[in-house]
Amino acid sequence: MSWAGISLLLLLPLLIAFWGLRRIWRTRKPNEPPLDRGVVPWLGHALEFGKDSAEFLTQMKEKHGDIFTVEIAGKFVTFLLDPHSFDAVFWAPSDKLDFGKYAEILMDRMFDVRLPTSNMNKERAVLKSHFQNESLTDLTKSMFHNLNIILLNGSSCPISEWKEEGLLAFVYKVMLRAGYLTLFGRESEQHSDSHSPAKDVRHSQEVYKEFRKLDQLLMKAARKTLSRGEKKEADAVKRRLCQLVTINSHKDKYCKSSWFEYYRRHLEEIEVNEEMQSRALILQLWATQGNVGPATFWLILYLLKSPEAMLAVKGEFERTFQSFKDRNTDIKEINQDLLDNMFILDSALNEALRLTAAPFITREVLADMSLKLADGREFRLRRHDRVCLFPYVSPQMDPEVYRDPEVFQYDRFLSANGTEKTFFYKNGKKLKYPNLPWGAGSNVCVGKRHAVNSIKQFVCLLFFYFDFELKNPSEKIPEFDRSRYGFGVVQPNQDISFKYRRKS
Ligand code: HEM
Repeated sequence: MSWAGISLLLLLPLLIAFWGLRRIWRTRKPNEPPLDRGVVPWLGHALEFGKDSAEFLTQMKEKHGDIFTVEIAGKFVTFLLDPHSFDAVFWAPSDKLDFGKYAEILMDRMFDVRLPTSNMNKERAVLKSHFQNESLTDLTKSMFHNLNIILLNGSSCPISEWKEEGLLAFVYKVMLRAGYLTLFGRESEQHSDSHSPAKDVRHSQEVYKEFRKLDQLLMKAARKTLSRGEKKEADAVKRRLCQLVTINSHKDKYCKSSWFEYYRRHLEEIEVNEEMQSRALILQLWATQGNVGPATFWLILYLLKSPEAMLAVKGEFERTFQSFKDRNTDIKEINQDLLDNMFILDSALNEALRLTAAPFITREVLADMSLKLADGREFRLRRHDRVCLFPYVSPQMDPEVYRDPEVFQYDRFLSANGTEKTFFYKNGKKLKYPNLPWGAGSNVCVGKRHAVNSIKQFVCLLFFYFDFELKNPSEKIPEFDRSRYGFGVVQPNQDISFKYRRKS
């Protein structure tokens, strides 16, 4: 080894120690956000944050205001909670605030997925095209067909007989199975071909069963807090899911989405092995389906708990589909026009999402930079830190923006003329982003319209074919599973019983 090499080797531990000490001794510099490191070195606020992020961030907001930096397990995270200033993060250049780096860390922790770096901007543009225009029309048709298959063939519910089940279990199962068949393809050939759904019904049920087991372990996997036994279980479930959802097993399927074909080609082009391809598919299954079931669950539950809301939404449904009822025929299709004109249902869905969608919108700081807030203040951010928005606390649950923010008001997003209400204010100024279940800016959810269409179609089919009610109407709405804050739509900490029967 050369002298230069030996000197470098000797210097390396010193450099690492210096870097570590700088972090240990980190103090707030001029123009930086207030810094709160907690009392435990390195761990910082990790415990309070992991236990109940919403409560912790509300307290921090009261203590420090709309922007502050906290230490969480050795990482410094700046939370920006002023919704008027969100554009500074949503539209920041990707060489300053990066979406992909933190996403890659989570992909590895949760799904063991490690993919070669690719051009994210180009990929996102292509991805978007698979959820818009004709692709969206195809997805909507296909989802309608698959919802029919799962609801009418897969729910094993004899006509006129009540069946009891947990509401989350029922809704999540139907949405995930239909959503999976829509994106990944099915055995039966045509939209109209309902002769061979048995295999799709069986296969999607197996996928759902394993998916739910994994879903319940993923939060701990993301925080690296799985026990040894849980880790073993998660590995086994992922293996079983990979056997069920392989690229090859989907090659001969019909009615795959254009997204699936694109993603399959993409995985081939970046030359990852077959095992990694399957793991990437499981990750995609979670990314595309993990929020839809829980969002639909909360919508149905809030409707069931609010007779006034149920009446209004059902009334709109009946007006929209009266002709099918009159002709005594099944609904053959629910097209975009019909879906777009159900404003009451839209408002109820937006309200359910306002109350339950709690994603962290996280970006990695790639270079020292300054963040300019709407009120003119400017804050320095340091490279290697993270920036995070938590719209659930602000603006979604802010009493200044929404009166009685914890109450479900189905018509909160309806204007006086019956269309969508978009005017909400904070500090006397109109909010550009009053409700952010889908994120916004350059990384906004590309599947938003497909997800909304799917949820609305499900509600319509439920009204059309089923009677349904809570088993015990006085049972309280379950509390949130607070460990899920930060990962999209939260789930309840326990299910609630409901009953349903096919209309005769
Ligand atoms: C209720 C259902 C859903 C909710 C609440 C939701 C929410 C979100 C959120 C909050 C983000 C991240 C935004 C950010 O960090 O800036 C996101 C990203 C994404 N969502 Fe969704 N989503 C839903 C359903 C779907 C569906 C059905 C699909 C596809 C079929 C989908 C595909 C994606 C993709 C591909 C991204 C990453 C976008 C990027 O790389 O820039 N989502 N979603």
